Amino acid sequence: MDHSNLSDYEDFQAEIPKDRFPADGLTPRAARTSLEASMWTDSNPMLNLSSFVTTFAEPELRDLMNDHVHVNYIDHDMYPQCYELEKRMVRMLHHLWNGPAGVEPYGAACVGSSEACMLAGLAHKWNWREARGAAGKDASRPNMVTGGNVQIVWKKFMKYFDVEPRIVPLQPGNYRLTAEHLEEHVDENTICVVAIAGQTFTGEDDEIQAIHDWLDDYEERTGISVPMHIDGASGGFVNPFLYPDYKWDFRLPRVLSINASAHKFGLVYPGLGWVVFRQREVFNEDLVFYVNYLGGESPTATLNFSRNAAQLVAQAYLFIRLGFSGYERIMRLTVQNAEHLRARLVESGYFDIMNQTQRIPVVALTLKEEFGNFNEFDVSFKVREKGWVLSAYSMPPNAEDVYSLRAVVRPHLNRNVINKLADDVIAACRYLQEHGGTAKPPALHGHVRTAPKC
Ligand SMILES: Cc1ncc(COP(=O)(O)O)c(C=O)c1O
Repeated sequence: MDHSNLSDYEDFQAEIPKDRFPADGLTPRAARTSLEASMWTDSNPMLNLSSFVTTFAEPELRDLMNDHVHVNYIDHDMYPQCYELEKRMVRMLHHLWNGPAGVEPYGAACVGSSEACMLAGLAHKWNWREARGAAGKDASRPNMVTGGNVQIVWKKFMKYFDVEPRIVPLQPGNYRLTAEHLEEHVDENTICVVAIAGQTFTGEDDEIQAIHDWLDDYEERTGISVPMHIDGASGGFVNPFLYPDYKWDFRLPRVLSINASAHKFGLVYPGLGWVVFRQREVFNEDLVFYVNYLGGESPTATLNFSRNAAQLVAQAYLFIRLGFSGYERIMRLTVQNAEHLRARLVESGYFDIMNQTQRIPVVALTLKEEFGNFNEFDVSFKVREKGWVLSAYSMPPNAEDVYSLRAVVRPHLNRNVINKLADDVIAACRYLQEHGGTAKPPALHGHVRTAPKC
């Protein structure tokens, strides 16, 4: 169709093909309007409290991202200053996470924590295999020990990279990895233990210090030294600012690698994540490749190759714009808002709190048993009428009978909005208490339903 004579009103009536490549183009305005219209019914990201991912940025930051969206920063030879920014930020994070002095910090900007976790997992697998080889021992059966509360990325890592999962099941009432069952899971084939700072399900930290101490004791008893990786996807940008005396990071000698999602409490739009190693040697040199086809020779050691520099530059902006004190203030306000939401919902009488400790701004609730005629999924559906996205889900094995309703409080939510949210959740519960609910939890796929074999 010739669009040159059509008014805008007619132009954007063009249908977006569902299953064939479009034969002809549209005017820019028509392409944009029809695309935007096709997504009008998606959730509003600002009201999506299921997600940890940043939805607010200052206008200067958005402009800066726009200005760098066409830079392919993997080409270190052509964009050496971008590469320099990445290296500087790795050093800043190594400092923020109390890395030892006098070592060469090493790390990488990744697409998110998922890529960062995979790189860390690979480094541990490589180091373990090298050590086993050097000792003349079998290196064919690597395993990794985690809690049942790990984010899906670790299960992907273990499957994709052929590492046996040793997943310590949760229990109703205990949703963290503790030192209690490590004896049954850790052995000479354990490449590392992953402990979480700010877990996905309840926001709590695993018992990092206790796990560390248990591994010390294990080494004393057996001579086997097992390193730790800290998944600080969320906690990595909260703990340093709010709990400076809390040792969750490189202050613990066994912690050899840490990841964090820049696009969560690092405050960058998606997608950027970080992996930082205690020192250069932890990232096995065998994992680094050198390419010469972009002009000059560049090292590359990420799973992903080409990507734009927008998020990287955004993170640099935030580090220098906010500094330690700026992040501290923002995280404090955000946690205070989470505490307020938590208090309002607990005081309503409908909920028990699941996260006994409140480090990162996540509120995880479960309905009190006495409310038998509706469930957390009903509440989640009901508040959708107001636009809120609050995820309801069943916990991982062996706590799958416990349902949770979780709100991730992000920095863009102010006290007024939090009060509105609390009012809407409580009103939804009142309605459901009177009328009953009908929601059924979604059927679980096998990997969730069955406790992984050890
Ligand atoms: C504890 C934890 N680890 C890893 C991830 C994966 O992070 P990303 O979405 O940045 O890839 C998440 C995401 O929610 C997480 O909460």
